[in-house]
Amino acid sequence: MRIHVNDPLDKSAMERLMNSGYNVTSEHLEKDELIKEIPNIDVLVVRSATKVTADIIEAGKNLKIIARAGTGLDNVDVEKAKEKGIKVINTPGANGISVAELAIGLMISCARHIAKGTMDLKNGEWTKKQLKGHELYKRTVGIIGFGNIGREVAKRLLAFDMRVLAYDPFVKETDMNVEIVDLDTIFKESDFITIHVPLTNETKHLVSKEAFEKMKDGVILINAARGGVVDEEALYNALASGKVYAAGLDVFEVEPPTDELRKKLLELPNVVATPHIGASTVEAQLRVGQIIVDKILEEVKKL
Ligand code: MLT
Repeated sequence: MRIHVNDPLDKSAMERLMNSGYNVTSEHLEKDELIKEIPNIDVLVVRSATKVTADIIEAGKNLKIIARAGTGLDNVDVEKAKEKGIKVINTPGANGISVAELAIGLMISCARHIAKGTMDLKNGEWTKKQLKGHELYKRTVGIIGFGNIGREVAKRLLAFDMRVLAYDPFVKETDMNVEIVDLDTIFKESDFITIHVPLTNETKHLVSKEAFEKMKDGVILINAARGGVVDEEALYNALASGKVYAAGLDVFEVEPPTDELRKKLLELPNVVATPHIGASTVEAQLRVGQIIVDKILEEVKKL
């Protein structure tokens, strides 16, 4: 039984795997190398860097488990894995608090120009007069996706005394002080919109040109979920025209965001951006690592 860890795991999780008695290897193999090696692997462990595509799965003659240390499964061809009888496991919820905290950080940074103020000061400029922002207090926030992460975001924003709306096709009611509404209501009534859905065929470009047209002037958009959920060309236009006051982005449809469109997007003064660090905290990685190892050992026992 060989377990291959292709993207780095938390140190203590790695130690547990190494001491599990199985043959554990750990090295990042790029796609062409991984395709050659995959016939010798029973359990493949990845984070987001490795794309477990159909051809890798097809070549995995002995592959039994794909373990994704994280929430999103958009980097794994789950359909192909299912077709081949390969079990896919992940750690939903394990990094939810970290992502929620980052989303709120981006929200406040957008509303209060924290990143711009920092950059100006570092450049020797005292731009106090240009940086009048907005409070969150009593304003309306629309949460798209009311799963684990969406609920963690809501819990925290209620403490800011915000009116909280949420849209999720799978949620009809909640015991939180949150109004469950349709997507159009989110677009039309929100001062802040924050996205917490996975990237699927249904959510791709969910926040489109038409969606931006429905939004209030001066809305603030936060995306710490997946870049592909937002049409970034439409976002660029909405930011450049001032329709969107500011955007806080931790994710991009192309990562790293080095193509022309994303470069243009990042150059806008009203964009606050981080390099997909939502789950990058000591605490989240510890949790994710422990949970994925628990799940791997449990599944391997059943083989
Ligand atoms: C996740 O889906 O778990 C997060 O986006 C973190 C990641 O992919 O690294």
